[in-house]
Amino acid sequence: MQKLICKDYEEMSRTAADLVAKEVQAKPDMVLGLPTGSTPVGMYRQLISMVQNGTLDFSQVTTFNLDEYYPIDASNPQSYHYFMDENFFNHINIDRQRVHILDGRCEDVQQECAQYDARIRDFGGIDLQLLGIGGNGHIAFNEPDDFLDANTHLVSLTAQTVQDNARFFESEDQVPTQAVTLGMQGILSAKKIIILASGKNKAKAVSEVFTGKITTQNPASLLAAHRDVIFILDEAAAGL
Ligand code: F6R
Repeated sequence: MQKLICKDYEEMSRTAADLVAKEVQAKPDMVLGLPTGSTPVGMYRQLISMVQNGTLDFSQVTTFNLDEYYPIDASNPQSYHYFMDENFFNHINIDRQRVHILDGRCEDVQQECAQYDARIRDFGGIDLQLLGIGGNGHIAFNEPDDFLDANTHLVSLTAQTVQDNARFFESEDQVPTQAVTLGMQGILSAKKIIILASGKNKAKAVSEVFTGKITTQNPASLLAAHRDVIFILDEAAAGL
């Protein structure tokens, strides 16, 4: 695992955007895995600027998002569909046919999850997976547990994650308690992974990843088994 330590959130965002841009320029029809949350917003802003000033082209890129709350409508401002439109897709030249996000309103969750994995396979797998990390080490919504799921699945969010995400909602009781998420196989089969962490509330989870031990109690620690992972941290997240 490679570790890049940046001064602050801005530098982390710029560093990540530059790496993503390099990958897109090298393979314009790449398959890109995308996260939501506070962490990637600055990186998305940088990528938007590059598209708008004509130095980056997303027209051939295919995207798969990591996760979505369940149940939730795509039109709900708290949904990850809505987040991606607002923070990224509405501002870049992406072909909407190439955008994939799990359906938070599907009736048959198992079928939706199986089809999502099949679609990723049909596109030849994810070339570059971008990730954030939860304060408890979760990646996508693979929460710490004795067992982790390999494939895309429905998951119950931990109390900590519900509490962490309450900042996006009017009150904690409005936070959905379930989500659909890529599993560990879906993440680890990406050819390259870039994971971002900012702020001291991520420092403990990040430090556990660099102990050289792998544990399902910190799902991000499984990234140590992947051959091409870059952690981009700000100084606060790298603090421990
Ligand atoms: C979101 C996702 C989550 C977040 C994580 C960190 O699509 O997969 O794993 O990356 O919860 O969230 P923030 O960036 O809001 O701290």
